[in-house]
Amino acid sequence: MIAINRKASKTLHRQIYDSYRTAIVEGSLRPGQRIPSSRMFASESGVSRFPVLNAYAQLLAEGYFESRVGAGTVVSSSIPDQLAPSVPTRAQSAAPRSGPRSLARFCARLPRPERPPWLLGSGAFSVGQVAFDEFPLHIWSSLVARHCRKLGARSFHYGDPVGSIALRETIATYLRTARSLRCEAEQVMIVSGSQQALDITARALLDPGSRVWVEQPGYRLARDTLILAGCRLVPVPVDGEGMDVAAGIRRSHKARAALVTPSHQFPLGVTMSATRRLQLLDWAQSSGAWIIEDDYDSEYRYGNNPIASLQGLDANARVIYLGTFSKVLFPSLRMGYVVIPCDLVDRFIAVRRAMDLAPPTIYQDVLADFIAEGHFARHIRRMRVLYRERRSALVASIAKDLGSLVKVVGSEAGMYLTVTLKDGHRDHEIAERAARQSLWTWPLSPSYLGDGARQGFILGFGSTPVAEIPRAVRKLRNLLR
Ligand SMILES: Cc1ncc(COP(=O)(O)O)c(C=O)c1O
Repeated sequence: MIAINRKASKTLHRQIYDSYRTAIVEGSLRPGQRIPSSRMFASESGVSRFPVLNAYAQLLAEGYFESRVGAGTVVSSSIPDQLAPSVPTRAQSAAPRSGPRSLARFCARLPRPERPPWLLGSGAFSVGQVAFDEFPLHIWSSLVARHCRKLGARSFHYGDPVGSIALRETIATYLRTARSLRCEAEQVMIVSGSQQALDITARALLDPGSRVWVEQPGYRLARDTLILAGCRLVPVPVDGEGMDVAAGIRRSHKARAALVTPSHQFPLGVTMSATRRLQLLDWAQSSGAWIIEDDYDSEYRYGNNPIASLQGLDANARVIYLGTFSKVLFPSLRMGYVVIPCDLVDRFIAVRRAMDLAPPTIYQDVLADFIAEGHFARHIRRMRVLYRERRSALVASIAKDLGSLVKVVGSEAGMYLTVTLKDGHRDHEIAERAARQSLWTWPLSPSYLGDGARQGFILGFGSTPVAEIPRAVRKLRNLLR
């Protein structure tokens, strides 16, 4: 970055000084950034140390550089005052350049990425947050340490594009027993969460213009993945039995796929009935469509027994099953899986290799041991008890303090429940005001595509201790009044 020209008439010391000063004034070097030692600079640029020492001394004297104990020389945290106005702001440096600069068509269709206030905090009602203080961190960290200590060539190199066989075998066993899937390890691909699972699935099976049934209301990020793949979304209403298959057939009989959350519909919390499951499988078989089953949190069920997964009921290799560790462990792990019909495995591998080659190896090994040594099953058992208590406390508090204002629509599974508002409140506005009071509830209406959205809230209880729930519900009641 600091260019030296030996043939220039300017002295070396001046060239070094000017280059650093310009880089700092223009903002390409930022406060706190480390400057190479004079010795290293001289050796890498092939110049003697004297001009470098002189230039550094001047930059220090003028306040562009400062020395920090333990960090060597860094760009000053406050550069000389008279220069401050010319330092470009982030917005200026990102200003559009002249001339046409076209975006990809489907990227342009994605909604603007927002950071609404309810996503910014953690605590009462935040959705998707687990009870992180209950996670067996000591076990996890000792497994991480164990695997880091014995890193061999295999862990350093690119892993298998489908993921490690040890982890895939443990997952296949778990899915066969706990979720009644029909699958072998060869069909399991490790991915960085359901989001990537859906992305790979869409690239392998769908084309721009393909019509896809999506649940109305549904999970917005999954819709975005389909939009990016160029798909045309067909919203299909969800009622008390899950996605209304007959309505889907009326709207688009020839759709290429249906994306569903049958175990625990997001966000209404419904479990798809056995009749609807069979109807959906029949439709897929008769019209040649795919079913993408997003099973994101079915480990936690509180009422009725789980119904077998769609994948387990499917006799025609039409279901792609997506699973994730985001709820059952923690979301920053970015670990999930997709179960692929046998004859499509190589197509999915081809897509995967073109995207990101393979998943990272170390956490796969850690997770495989975490499951194989029984910690995973133990963690699920403990969390099921904890979340059941939190959910019961929330349901009871809602009945006591909010019963006249809201209706609970689904609370039989997972780490959230949804309530709809009985009168003309706007969920968006209330959620904004709630966030100012550290209540991180999500409004329900953005889960709908187009008009006719119901107003309500998605209330997470995963990270809200029982003792805090009544007070949080009362705060929400005050906002609604
Ligand atoms: C319906 C649904 N699917 C999937 C996920 C999880 O996605 P990921 O595995 O990418 O973290 C979520 C998370 O909130 C979700 O609500």
